[in-house]
Amino acid sequence: MELNIAVLAGDGIGPEVIDQAIKVSDAIAKKYNHKINWKPALTGAAAIDAVGEPYPDETHTICEAADAILFGAIGHPRFDNDPSAKVRPEQGLLKMREKLGLFANVRPTFTFPSLIDKSPLKRERIEGTDFIILRELTGGVYFGKRGRLDNGNTAYDTMTYTREEIKRLAIKGFELAMTRSKKLCCVDKANVLESSRLWRETVQAMEKDYPEVTVSYEFVDAVAMRLVQWPSEYDVLITENLFGDILTDEASVISGSMGLMPSASVGTDNKLYEPIHGSYPQAAGKDIANPLATILSVAMLFEDFRLTKEAQAIRDVVNKSLAEGVVTEDLADGRKSYKTSEVGDWLVKNI
Ligand code: IPM
Ligand code: MN
Repeated sequence: MELNIAVLAGDGIGPEVIDQAIKVSDAIAKKYNHKINWKPALTGAAAIDAVGEPYPDETHTICEAADAILFGAIGHPRFDNDPSAKVRPEQGLLKMREKLGLFANVRPTFTFPSLIDKSPLKRERIEGTDFIILRELTGGVYFGKRGRLDNGNTAYDTMTYTREEIKRLAIKGFELAMTRSKKLCCVDKANVLESSRLWRETVQAMEKDYPEVTVSYEFVDAVAMRLVQWPSEYDVLITENLFGDILTDEASVISGSMGLMPSASVGTDNKLYEPIHGSYPQAAGKDIANPLATILSVAMLFEDFRLTKEAQAIRDVVNKSLAEGVVTEDLADGRKSYKTSEVGDWLVKNI
């Protein structure tokens, strides 16, 4: 197979972890006779510096033309501490999600046998944890009407959803549940929010189309609690944008390191893969960041192109590196640690 992949390395540790993911992907491609054409493009603070905006049209054109997009991270402290900044890297991320129609964000949480004791939760709580949060990504309060009233002394943001937006996300949830344990949890706040009542109503009406799937409806506050109490009880969860943002950060620490969790954002025409972690500016340029979340994101990419053996080969070699302690300092626990690039080299050698 020949794949054209747009590479948006972005800011902070983005370029370093992306470099390792490219090395590993090329090694897999070589082993299984594929060809990957990488098309780099600017995004984030790096793009603001170069052309004055975080998601330039040229980048959008490259993304649209590609079969898939591999994304590093965006964000820079110089914007975080300046509430008056007119352009911010994060705007690029939101614009990209909207313009590429990436309405479903797939964020898995699973554990690694060799890292179970790194989790902040007790072993017996997390053993067997393997769930996926499907977060709606192009609607809700992130994209609703917002503004100021009363001479700037009142501010509002609105959470708006259409039945269609809920339905297309829920279809992905039901379909994913069908390939797994056939359990779907719809996370909302239907005891308070009208938009949540529309979520519930819409998903309830779809149940008859998926008779094998057992659907539960739970309030987001209760899910926030149960996710850390009984994470292994969950399988596929669907939820709106902001709830999903919060729950997926919570979920990402269950495995023991945020540096491990991959994600995909998909729409009708485009697919984007990225690590869950951010740009981690304190580590930028030091060759210490954990590249595994980005590398596991490539495994998700391969999986979506039905390159199942290739995806499994990535997961296997990642597991091997963890088991043998070839890890960056975040996972080393005072033992010998390896540089970002050394982990990448080791993975390539072992592929
Ligand atoms: C994420 C991030 C973004 C979000 C920010 C950077 C805008 O937190 O991808 O989860 O809130 O969606
Ligand atoms: Mn987030």
